[in-house]
Amino acid sequence: MTATRLPELSPETIASAARRVMARCDELARVTADDGAITRVHLSPEHARVNRLAAEWMREAGMTPRQDAAGNQLGLLPADDPDAPVLMLGSHLDTVIDAGRFDGILGVLMAIEVVRLLRRVDDEGRSRSPFPFGLEVAAFSDEEGARFGKALLGSSAMAGTWDDAWWELSDADGTTLREAYREFGLDPGRIGEAARRPEQLVGYLEAHIEQGPELDRRGEALAVVSSIASARRFQLLVEGEARHAGGTPYDMRRDALLGASEAALAVERICRGEHHIIGTVGQLEAFPGAVNVVPGEARFSLDLRGEFDADRDRVWRAISLELDEIMGRRGLRWRAREVHSAPAVFCAPLLQDVVREGIRHSVGAAAEPATLFSPAGHDGMALGAVAPVGMLFLRNPDGISHHPDESVSGPDVALGIRALAEAVAHVGAEPR
Ligand code: GLV
Ligand code: MN
Ligand code: MN
Repeated sequence: MTATRLPELSPETIASAARRVMARCDELARVTADDGAITRVHLSPEHARVNRLAAEWMREAGMTPRQDAAGNQLGLLPADDPDAPVLMLGSHLDTVIDAGRFDGILGVLMAIEVVRLLRRVDDEGRSRSPFPFGLEVAAFSDEEGARFGKALLGSSAMAGTWDDAWWELSDADGTTLREAYREFGLDPGRIGEAARRPEQLVGYLEAHIEQGPELDRRGEALAVVSSIASARRFQLLVEGEARHAGGTPYDMRRDALLGASEAALAVERICRGEHHIIGTVGQLEAFPGAVNVVPGEARFSLDLRGEFDADRDRVWRAISLELDEIMGRRGLRWRAREVHSAPAVFCAPLLQDVVREGIRHSVGAAAEPATLFSPAGHDGMALGAVAPVGMLFLRNPDGISHHPDESVSGPDVALGIRALAEAVAHVGAEPR
């Protein structure tokens, strides 16, 4: 691969870009629905506010901002040829409930800085991509699925894999996705306009904090991502019988909460015996929810991930058989509704190579940069349907994520910005 040096990227320039990224992560963390916590879900007033801020920052970095039909905030740095395809850089601005300040956000802000660093100003004073393709930053509107259960709504719209059944998904207040679109000022009838065709995309490159401890354990700042886990999410319902907590002997109880609890333990037991399969029960509710009533109904969620779709599906079948056994033994009925499914996405060899080259230039290490599989989900899972995908991971001390303590250091962000810029330049150096 041809080495492409970016001589204008002085350490001071990169350090100031990293400081801007860190300050903006703090600024976006203040845009939240919960005082004292970071919560910013899809199509909320907070989503509109961060899109406006990102648009301002995109414009200031030389891009033309616009919000697409799925609420994704985009910024374009065109090539000289207006019909040239684009290399998409980005991540998401939505969060989980009580989130950290870097998951997704960091990747969007780093992408904006990379465009600022790479842009060329033409004779008429217009910012242009220095490559035969445009650069476009995407701040995706929904990666987490925290509001409607279904994740990757923004990137799925862009990938053209939208499913009209999703319009009827509803949030905890009963607002459907269709209603939320209208309240946000978007027209559900125009969702197709967000879709891109493969020939319009050179690829999709995303920087993200690692959401586990591997880089921290290895003492390394950056990694190439080899693939993103496949995922399925389910909402499960267990039905038993609500009866008096004092008067009902154990042999007459059909306690739905105990069935659900045993199911959660079975998920752990089954997944622990597997390689690169992780199952999590993150929500569990009992009804009617009174201290002196045996729970007649329980609802719980299951998030199941795997490196390979076939393994994940085999494990779901094993869990289903186990649930049949548990519920049968306890006189309970159960059913599952699948709310999200995304296949594993393998990062394109070329984009893995450019990220690896970028890390080598940035970190200056003689050793081979780490290559990690991502059990966490990312927008590339959806974009993989229309574009080659590549990812760069940044060290996250202790690996904690989806938690307020999530962190990344300023010096690592500086290394990451240089690596991402170099990776983009290497894509530009590839014969097309
Ligand atoms: C998103 O962060 C996910 O992996 O669920
Ligand atoms: Mn994320
Ligand atoms: Mn996340």
